[in-house]
Amino acid sequence: MTDEPVQLWSVRKVYGSAAGGVTALDDMTVSFRAGTFTAVMGPSGSGKSTLLHCAAGLDRPTDGKVIIDGTDLGPLGETALTLLRRKRIGFVFQAFNLVSALTAEQNVALPLRLAGVRPRGSEVRAALAEVGLADRARHRPGELSGGEQQRVAIARALVTRPSVLFADEPTGALDRATSRDVLRLLRDLADRQGQTVVMVTHDPVAASYADRVLLLADGRVVDEFTAADAGPGSPASGSDAGPGSPGSGPGSGGAGRAPAGAGLSPELIAARMAALEASC
Ligand SMILES: Nc1ncnc2c1ncn2[C@@H]1O[C@H](COP(=O)(O)OP(=O)(O)OP(=O)(O)O)[C@@H](O)[C@H]1O
Ligand SMILES: [Mg+2]
Repeated sequence: MTDEPVQLWSVRKVYGSAAGGVTALDDMTVSFRAGTFTAVMGPSGSGKSTLLHCAAGLDRPTDGKVIIDGTDLGPLGETALTLLRRKRIGFVFQAFNLVSALTAEQNVALPLRLAGVRPRGSEVRAALAEVGLADRARHRPGELSGGEQQRVAIARALVTRPSVLFADEPTGALDRATSRDVLRLLRDLADRQGQTVVMVTHDPVAASYADRVLLLADGRVVDEFTAADAGPGSPASGSDAGPGSPGSGPGSGGAGRAPAGAGLSPELIAARMAALEASC
């Protein structure tokens, strides 16, 4: 695995015809290092979902290159792209997208079945245990809370041990307390498993769990900062909804991760967003 499992080089995405088209991504070059947790923010329509879809091979860029684990997605045909996506990429949506007739463990096993692999009970249970739901394996989505359903969706995205986990507003449909469980889980996956996580969010509190924030406007990265930029003097989130970064503990340091206690604060993120809006 490379140190940067996700790389985008001069990616442009234009929807519609060149003349009347919408440029959703405008010459974007960005990469994501292994074991880091990045929050992608920006106004509605700034290209956040398009960035995730192009990076995840769900959509093809108009121009430029997307490289996942050293493989350029551009030349891949549909079948090869689908296979790569199933194996290397996990994707979590705001609306969970679980199959309601299937139990939690059957939902988690689904990507393996789609890949033609007979799921082993142990790996499915391990994925559910990772998200703290080992005891809910036989429950259907309707019997789980929103936060639990999203955690099943995360287990499903992780069961193939992907190089990167993308999440598009994963807490958008959740209340504050259940959001916190999901965000702590994503933080933990980066810290303890070295999982690369890229999350779109509108919420500065959610973004404060990340170690890096990208701010988008009009299909470009217009600001970028990390926990290290925030410095040790930054308020390490006084609010109870914050990441509680000391809990991440020593040894958590994935690449680019700031020392415990120097996390991004929701206040800092909100201030940078406000500065962006003022300059637009
Ligand atoms: N399938 C599509 N066809 C045409 N235009 C599209 C399509 N998908 C997105 N767009 C346009 O591309 C731009 C970027 O859209 P995108 O969904 O990436 O924004 P976003 O930052 O995720 O917004 P939001 O915060 O509202 O989810 C918008 O102007 C949008 O209208
Ligand atoms: Mg979006």
